[in-house]
Amino acid sequence: MPAGDRLRVGVLVSGRGSNLQALLDASSRPDYPAEVVVVISDRERAAALDRARAAGVEALFVNPKDFGDREAFDLALVSELTTRRVGLVCNAGFMRILSPAYTRAFAGRAMNIHPSLLPAFPGLHAQRQALDHGAKITGATVHFVDDGPVDTGPIILQASVPVEPDDTEETLSARILAQEHRLYPEAVRLFAEGRLAVVGRRVTIR
Ligand code: GRF
Repeated sequence: MPAGDRLRVGVLVSGRGSNLQALLDASSRPDYPAEVVVVISDRERAAALDRARAAGVEALFVNPKDFGDREAFDLALVSELTTRRVGLVCNAGFMRILSPAYTRAFAGRAMNIHPSLLPAFPGLHAQRQALDHGAKITGATVHFVDDGPVDTGPIILQASVPVEPDDTEETLSARILAQEHRLYPEAVRLFAEGRLAVVGRRVTIR
């Protein structure tokens, strides 16, 4: 697919970046309808920035300390992303809550990935929450970002993952992560192909 025809994707990260890597790997396939054009981190040493550089993708550190408040930081993100004509933003392990100033700017064009079957176990330590609740099944969710508190927003794709009796947070996280790496590029592909329709809280795939 010609580069100009591909959906331009920005990715927000804070850490390891394994989901970013899944998106970069998908982007490197010529028939994939989206390409990551910029990766932005709120942490200077995020390994995700190294992954972006290694893939030849622009890697930006935007320091929250340079801004007076959350909204000013979020508006700086909006500015960096719109300057690069990004059509979709993917949060991939981005550890900040985005204000309405941001979510409004990218309404219907921002996704997040979360390591549980939402609406179960939103927020931090979703895998530990699943273990603490004795859940037998958990999983991964890709959803649109809305202006709700955390991990709300219409659900795009989900995959279930069994919780094994001897699971630790690490073993469960690894099993979920394998599904995350499959789901996120698939959700971006569906978006890029114009196959997602949102009606109220429901996302249908055409
Ligand atoms: C993933 O489990 C993702 O679902 C959650 O944070 C983790 C990020 O991992 N939001 P990575 O940085 O993509 O490796």
